Amino acid sequence: MKYAHIVGWGSVLPDKVLTNDDLAELVDTSDEWIFRRTGIRQRHIAGPKETTTTLAFEAAARALVVAGIPPSQIEMIIVATSTQEHIFPSTASRVQDFLGATKAGAFDLGAACSGFVYALSMAAQAIATESVRNAIVIGAETMSRVLDWEDRGTCILFGDGAGAVVLQGSSIPGGVMASTLRSDGSGGEMLSLPAVYQNPVPMLGKESLHSRHKKNTITMNGRQVFRFATKVLSESVEDVLEKAGLSIDDVSLIVPHQANVRIIESAAKRLKISPDKFYMNLETASNTSAASIPIALCDAIKSNRLHPDDNVVFVGFGGGLTWGATVVKWDVTPPEISPLDRELKRARYIVARGRSRLKQIGRNIGARLGGSFAPDATLKDAEKGRKVK
Ligand code: COA
Repeated sequence: MKYAHIVGWGSVLPDKVLTNDDLAELVDTSDEWIFRRTGIRQRHIAGPKETTTTLAFEAAARALVVAGIPPSQIEMIIVATSTQEHIFPSTASRVQDFLGATKAGAFDLGAACSGFVYALSMAAQAIATESVRNAIVIGAETMSRVLDWEDRGTCILFGDGAGAVVLQGSSIPGGVMASTLRSDGSGGEMLSLPAVYQNPVPMLGKESLHSRHKKNTITMNGRQVFRFATKVLSESVEDVLEKAGLSIDDVSLIVPHQANVRIIESAAKRLKISPDKFYMNLETASNTSAASIPIALCDAIKSNRLHPDDNVVFVGFGGGLTWGATVVKWDVTPPEISPLDRELKRARYIVARGRSRLKQIGRNIGARLGGSFAPDATLKDAEKGRKVK
C-alpha cells in the first residue's frame, strides 16, 4: 500500500482579461450586480491559439518542474474537463504527447466542476494499489467556448484556465488520506452542456436527432444550483473528515470549487467556521470549472497559506449533479527553482514535439511504402490472389 503525495503543482490563466465592465457592454448587467451576487470581478479568456490542451499542457509542465520528475517517469495522466476539443483523441492523450510522457496511460474524466476531486481520487487509488508510481492530475477548461454570450445568467460566471498536480507514491504516510465522491443524476437538468454529436443518420432522417438542445452551450437554473451547492459543500467536507478520522479543527485550509463567494460563505456558516478557512481567488479567476481547485491551490501556495503537516480539504460540486471532497496531508515545502533550471527543463518539450512529429512522418512514409498493412490494401492483395488462382 502506497501513499499518494502531491509533489508538484502548476497553473496557468490566459493573458486576456474580461472585466465585469467589459461584460456590461455585451449583456444587460453591471460590475456592481455581478460582484455583489458572485464575488467575481473579472475572468480570463483563452486567445485564438490557446485551447484546453495547450492550457492543460502548460499547467502540467509547470507542475513537473516543481516535482523535479521527468515526464518519462509519469505513468498516468488524467485531465478533468468539460471542454475537450475532441471526444477522442482525449485531451490527456494530447498532453501525454506534448510532454513526451512515453510511459503514461492517459484519459479524460468528465464530472463537470467536481472533475478535479474525482480525478485526484482515481489517481491516488491507482498509486495506493501500486498500479502506477507517478501520476499527473489536471483540471483544464476553455469555458468561454461553451458559453451563450447572450445569457447574462451564465456568461458572467465562468472563465478559462488550467491547474495540475503531480502525485508520487511513497511508503511514508501522508498525501491523499480520504475521498468522498457522490452523484445525483436526477438533477442533471439544473446545469447542463449538451454534446455536439447530433448528425442525423441518413436512413433515419430527422428522427435520429435525439437532442432537444439547439445550442452547444451551458444552460443553468442558478437558484436551484445555488441551493444544491451550499448543501453539498458543507456535507462533503463533514463526510470526508469523518472518513479520515479528523475534525474540522484539524483542518488548516479548505480549497473549494470557486463558484460563488456567497455559496462558500453559506457553507462556512453551516460548518460553523470562519470563511477565512476557505481559500478564494474567484474575484480575479472566476469559475473555471474543473480547473478552479488546482488553480486556487497554486495561488494558496504562492500566498503561503499551506505549510508542512497541514490538513487541506479540496471540495468540488457541479453538473451531473456531482460533488466530492478529498483530504490531503500537506507535506512539501515549495522548492527553489532557478530560471535557468526551469528553461532547461522546458527544452525537453521541444524535443518531445520533434519526436512526435518524426513519429507521424515515419508513420506516413511507412503507410506509403508498405501499404499492405492498411485494411483495404490487404483486401486488394487478397483479391489479386484470387484472380491469379
Ligand atoms: N445582471 C443583472 N441582472 C441579472 C443578471 C445579471 N447578470 N442575471 C440575472 N439577473 C436578474 C434576473 O433577471 C432577475 O431579475 P427579475 O427579478 O427582474 O426577474 C434578478 O436578477 C434575480 O435573478 P436570479 O436568477 O434570482 O438571481 P440570483 O440572486 O439567484 O443570482 C446567480 C443569479 C446566477 C448569480 C446565482 O443564482 C448563482 O450564483 N447560482 C449558482 C450558480 C453557479 O455557481 N453555477 C456553477 C456551479 S458549478
